[in-house]
Amino acid sequence: EIPSTFDGTIDLGIIGGTGLYQLDCLKPIAKLHPIITPWGVTSSPITIARFITNDSSLGDFHVAFLSRHGVNHEYPPSKVPFRANIAALKHLNCKAVVSFSAVGSLREEIKPRDFILPQQIIDRTKGVRDSSYFNDIGLVGHVGFGDPFSSNMAKFIYDLVEQANEQDPILVNQDTNEVCTLHFDRDLTVVCMEGPQFSTRAESKMYRMLGGDVINMSVLPEAKLARECELPYQMICMSTDYDAWMDHEEPVTVETVIGNLNNNGRNANRLATKIIEKMAIMTPKFLNNGDGLTGSIKMSISTK
Ligand code: ADE
Repeated sequence: EIPSTFDGTIDLGIIGGTGLYQLDCLKPIAKLHPIITPWGVTSSPITIARFITNDSSLGDFHVAFLSRHGVNHEYPPSKVPFRANIAALKHLNCKAVVSFSAVGSLREEIKPRDFILPQQIIDRTKGVRDSSYFNDIGLVGHVGFGDPFSSNMAKFIYDLVEQANEQDPILVNQDTNEVCTLHFDRDLTVVCMEGPQFSTRAESKMYRMLGGDVINMSVLPEAKLARECELPYQMICMSTDYDAWMDHEEPVTVETVIGNLNNNGRNANRLATKIIEKMAIMTPKFLNNGDGLTGSIKMSISTK
């Protein structure tokens, strides 16, 4: 029987998205029931796992895994309890968050089954999501969000994938055995739309003109809330389709999308395993210094 309580501290929080509902590499030392927070209940139970490192001066490395849409995908993007999810990870003392999300591609060179480390966001949600912790408590928080992601964490992930590509690639197309590209540069932009319907062809073309590279329904308010909690946050996007902009593309079939989702889930598992292993050994700097975010929020609050 796995305990349902845990009173240690967590190093890394991982949020799974569509197609990634559990991490196969995690042997749980605890499985917490969905956590009740002042902002509602988390979308899933939280699996806690420990990684024992050889270097005794580092101590063990703990990971918490949460499924954004629920274990049985019961939460559509507009209904995800984002505030509860991020608050729970903060409460467990996570020092950083890596999140996964299925995305559509707005660029020819970002192929289905490729992964992307975005560094920018365009907000196309409709204002219906609770996107701040401060509004309810009589405070106004103008929090810096010019760089919404952790470029340190993105670089850490990119380097480890590049390194693996020389010997044993992590991101592989299981049908063709080709290596899938991990896209990363400083302006790669994820558009976050409200959904649940996908974009029209005209909207999809507009997002390309605006500089969007990929599109999803989940990065907001997750990234904003992580920032309010001073948590370094990086999303790993997993491309499933070319969205609606391609005029001459054959209609997407369900088989294609399911094949891509399965492949992405498998690659996400492999990538998460490598990230955890490497972080456990290296304890990268951003886990210790909070990416420079620690204390930043105090300066952003004005009282009424
Ligand atoms: N998630 C996966 N594919 C998507 C798309 N084309 N648009 C919005 N969200 C998505």
